[in-house]
Amino acid sequence: MKQSVSMLMYSLALVVLLVVDVMLFVALGLASPIPWVVLAAIATIPYFSSRQEKRRFVTWHDSYSTGIEAIDNDHKKLLGLINNLQASVHYHTGEQFERQSLNELIDYTRFHFGREESLMEKHGFPGFADHKRQHHEMIQEVERFVAEYEKKGSDALDQVAEYLKVWLVNHINGTDQEYSPYLREKGEK
Ligand SMILES: [Fe+2]
Ligand SMILES: [Fe+2]
Repeated sequence: MKQSVSMLMYSLALVVLLVVDVMLFVALGLASPIPWVVLAAIATIPYFSSRQEKRRFVTWHDSYSTGIEAIDNDHKKLLGLINNLQASVHYHTGEQFERQSLNELIDYTRFHFGREESLMEKHGFPGFADHKRQHHEMIQEVERFVAEYEKKGSDALDQVAEYLKVWLVNHINGTDQEYSPYLREKGEK
């Protein structure tokens, strides 16, 4: 659903709830606790809504660090590019920014995979083939999503953005952690 449409529905729902609560005040009077409880519940909606909004975006945590500066810098840059893409999807910034955000994220992901694979190969990391296969499968999946985006336009972008966010964060925090002790032992830092 487009951000502008979902914002309109959200605002309408709040207005309807407030109108219902005013009617409860009129029917039951100020002395009744029911309309006050309903009012308190309505007041928490924007708080929970903004928490959910924040969850769309990702932040760097020190626990993501591999201890290898170039890799960590790449990962930080990727998180920033994920956030750009999430922003372009959810704030409906227009096709040009959408495409630019998507292409930048995919291009940098490819570049970063290349850097990791070179390091793993150079040092003979035992899990190299499996790690490279995961990168390859992810790029294939992204290409399928991009083809979908080319067919359906913005409506397909939400799924692409979510896939990239979840995959990259899990990969940075999981599979990429597997090579870091080995590469650091080989002198990478
Ligand atoms: Fe990585
Ligand atoms: Fe990786």
